[in-house]
Amino acid sequence: MKIFNLSILFCCLLTTHLMAQKGEEVKINIKADQAGVKIDKNIYGHFAEHLGRCIYGGFYVGEDSKIPNTAGVRNDVVEALKELKIPNLRWPGGCFADTYHWQDGIGPKGERPTIVNKWWGGVTEDNSFGTHDFLNMCELLDTEPYLSANVGSGTVQEVADWAQYVTHDGVSPMTKLRLENGREKPWEVKFWGIGNEAWGCGGNMTPEYYADVYRRYVTFMPGGLFRIASGASSGDYNWTEVLMKNIPNNMIEGMALHHYSVIDWSNKGPASTFSEEHYFKIMKEALKMEELVEKHSEIMDKYDPENKIALVVDEWGGWYDVEPGTNPGFLYQQNTMRDAMIAGTTLNVFNNHAKRVKMANLAQAINVLQAVILTDEEKMILTPTYWVMKMYNVHQDADLLPIEMNQKYYAFGEDKLPAISASASKDGEGNIHISVVNIDAHKANDVTFNLEGVNLKNVTAQILTSDQLQDHNTFEQPEKIKPAEFKKFKSKKGEITMSLPPFSVVVFEIK
Ligand code: AHR
Repeated sequence: MKIFNLSILFCCLLTTHLMAQKGEEVKINIKADQAGVKIDKNIYGHFAEHLGRCIYGGFYVGEDSKIPNTAGVRNDVVEALKELKIPNLRWPGGCFADTYHWQDGIGPKGERPTIVNKWWGGVTEDNSFGTHDFLNMCELLDTEPYLSANVGSGTVQEVADWAQYVTHDGVSPMTKLRLENGREKPWEVKFWGIGNEAWGCGGNMTPEYYADVYRRYVTFMPGGLFRIASGASSGDYNWTEVLMKNIPNNMIEGMALHHYSVIDWSNKGPASTFSEEHYFKIMKEALKMEELVEKHSEIMDKYDPENKIALVVDEWGGWYDVEPGTNPGFLYQQNTMRDAMIAGTTLNVFNNHAKRVKMANLAQAINVLQAVILTDEEKMILTPTYWVMKMYNVHQDADLLPIEMNQKYYAFGEDKLPAISASASKDGEGNIHISVVNIDAHKANDVTFNLEGVNLKNVTAQILTSDQLQDHNTFEQPEKIKPAEFKKFKSKKGEITMSLPPFSVVVFEIK
């Protein structure tokens, strides 16, 4: 009897194994009637640091520039980012934030002091882009500002004054100064980061020490803000544990996490002339986001069972060697279909973990790391990552639909990675959106969505793909990669079936 049972078990295991290996298709069951958690639009946030050509040349060219601008901010960039519906923008860093003294960046531009940008190329920062420039730009972009306060080299008073300067509505020393600088009304600034990477460039602190510093800083800030603690680097779970334990829940709204997809910090590999081995390694790093989010959330669940504190992944993306001939401190890299794969899979992870992940910031918006926009003087191009962000913005503030799926694998050498990633949501008008990614570098994969009970009369889809993984847009060929209509699917009786091309991102809309 025992032998019989074992042989049945073995037989079943073997069948499941073969299905997963050879398996005809990946089946994705989408529970369209089980909408629950909202996908916070802030998951689709961006990041603008005083680093390389992100601010200067990227966002800001100055009012006297021949490049069309509004108060010095490029009009083409504003238009492109508004199309993306960016929900929030983090500034002024990154590492730069902990060297930034906000009072240097207010008042007449010609009289502003300069500083050396210690972290990024040692260049002179003339402070011509400061608090007013940034916050007015956010109004132009219709996005919420996320200010990163200087904890590493600043003072508690400085941060308290900054918060009063930008948010206080009434008479105060800081509002008087704000008025003298031309702004009467306060801006709406809810999101505040209390330092950045406190374990590293933000001051090389221990988590125990930083937790105390954090408590001290927020004590002197105005009430009603969304305060984000400088969080862990990738798998440093102890950092999250110590902070969650030592910071009372009523003093914190967000816990940050940074995770970059990088092969090896001392040999990161090229951005566009990479090998398949590089691609595989980067995707392995990118897919780690799932485990990171789960494990950091588990720790947060322990100390915050009511799920009030958000996990804020305020730096993520691919990090490669800079483009040959460019300043190594400027982190300028091209953006290929590989980056589209990172963006598509990572955003699916965030969507699927929307219960705890309520905010995230791609690093960075323009000309730095995994940028959505690249500029060269008056020219501007949109990267494959831009198009993924655009295709996915339908998920913003929509209700997450739970999914269940089996998997097929993308194998390289002895190793393998799950090939298919997906997430689904239902928006306020009842439209369902499903984003699905096939990271396999060579193979198309058959995928079926099971959407029992959903009327599939009106289904459309957009695809982002290209001939080569290394393909990218250039200033000479700016539209090599852009979304196209995807028609190669069939829908009937509650199912949508398709063959998903290698390294492609597809977003379906069911109206
Ligand atoms: O995004 C570039 C840098 O990466 C940021 O300044 C820092 O926070 C991180 O180490």
